[in-house]
Amino acid sequence: MAKEKKGEYRDVGKIAIYPGSFDPITYGHIDIIERALEIFDKVIIAIAENAEKRPLFSAEERLQMVKTIFKDTPNVIVDSFKGLLVDYVAKTNAKVSLRGLRATSDFEYEFHMASMNRSLNTHLDTLFMMTSKDYFFVSSRTIKEVARLGGGVEGLVPDLVVRRLKEKFKLPVAKRKQIGWDD
Ligand code: PNS
Repeated sequence: MAKEKKGEYRDVGKIAIYPGSFDPITYGHIDIIERALEIFDKVIIAIAENAEKRPLFSAEERLQMVKTIFKDTPNVIVDSFKGLLVDYVAKTNAKVSLRGLRATSDFEYEFHMASMNRSLNTHLDTLFMMTSKDYFFVSSRTIKEVARLGGGVEGLVPDLVVRRLKEKFKLPVAKRKQIGWDD
């Protein structure tokens, strides 16, 4: 907060960006967002289009899913971005990038990413929130693997995501290979 005159503070920096692939969004992500809303006035969910990761869901599909899930939460904005996160952040009033930390295994990757972002934009801080114990083992990657092999992921992702995963994995194997996410 910036001090304007004695006893008066102007609210700045109460917007957080929550960037990620969200391929797909899980209750682990949603838990972080809900807890962040206790701290920030607004959370911008920024879905990285990152084509190099060959996502299961297209950017448009991920955007639509997340928008639907948060349609009744006005202080959550859902958007997607291409390129560097710092360039996207520069177009917003956010000063904080929010990331969930599940375990020590996440730390190294997160530490490098936060340090790189900080070196690209010294005004951007990364805030880490510990994932709730109920979702420590939940990741988008394992959700996709379990769903692909026919396991149940109910209770770990919203019902909409359960349905979308079922639709995806109903595609014939040849089609799945053609679009590159079944090799
Ligand atoms: O959910 P993920 O895949 O762990 O999210 C990673 C993400 C999207 C936050 C990260 O890859 C990212 O910010 N990508 C945008 C490109 C970028 O800014 N790279 C420099 C940071 S190392």
